[in-house]
Amino acid sequence: MSSIIISDAWEEDLEQIEKIERESFDNPYPFSLLKAYLQLAEGLFLVARDGDRVVGYCIGIVQFKVRGHIISIASSSEVRRTGIGSLLLQELERRFHKLGCTYSYLEVNVNNEEAIRFYYNRSYRVVRTRRNYYGRNKHGFVMVKNFKGESGFE
Ligand SMILES: CC(C)(COP(=O)(O)OP(=O)(O)OC[C@H]1O[C@@H](n2cnc3c(N)ncnc32)[C@H](O)[C@@H]1OP(=O)(O)O)[C@@H](O)C(=O)NCCC(=O)NCCS
Repeated sequence: MSSIIISDAWEEDLEQIEKIERESFDNPYPFSLLKAYLQLAEGLFLVARDGDRVVGYCIGIVQFKVRGHIISIASSSEVRRTGIGSLLLQELERRFHKLGCTYSYLEVNVNNEEAIRFYYNRSYRVVRTRRNYYGRNKHGFVMVKNFKGESGFE
């Protein structure tokens, strides 16, 4: 954990990111979309590195200049619950805030209890349900965190 570095993702990281993506989601983003996000989410596509190894990643985009949308976040299954997701989320939020965002939000599968708890414990709250967001009868919660009054952003 002590040697984990959060930094921008590079094209050379994509293979390892895709592997984490595939072990983390039922409908993983294809390599081509991850590659497109390198440009679309410049400065907001982050990886957690342990030496040469990528052990987690997250992607964000800024919408309407004020809201940060967390497109995806995942850590490698063998390193979960060691603080990597938190480091990634913290750094993404710090960058959103620096770019002028006043809040961040995301969609999460209503059955993804681990992720819902993860976000809840980091001040995200469910504000609505998006029915069939992930496909037929696969609903999503929208969770939001307001940055107003947040400490920790320098
Ligand atoms: C959600 C996800 C990104 C969290 O990543 P993570 O690397 O496990 O995150 P952390 O280790 O920082 O925190 C996870 C939990 O482990 C706990 N934890 C962290 N370090 C710990 C340690 N050393 N010992 C025990 N528990 C620890 C945290 O307190 C946290 O608990 P909480 O969720 O009850 O608050 C990860 O579970 C994941 O990749 N899931 C699959 C993909 C996914 O569903 N992504 C979200 C899509 S919306």
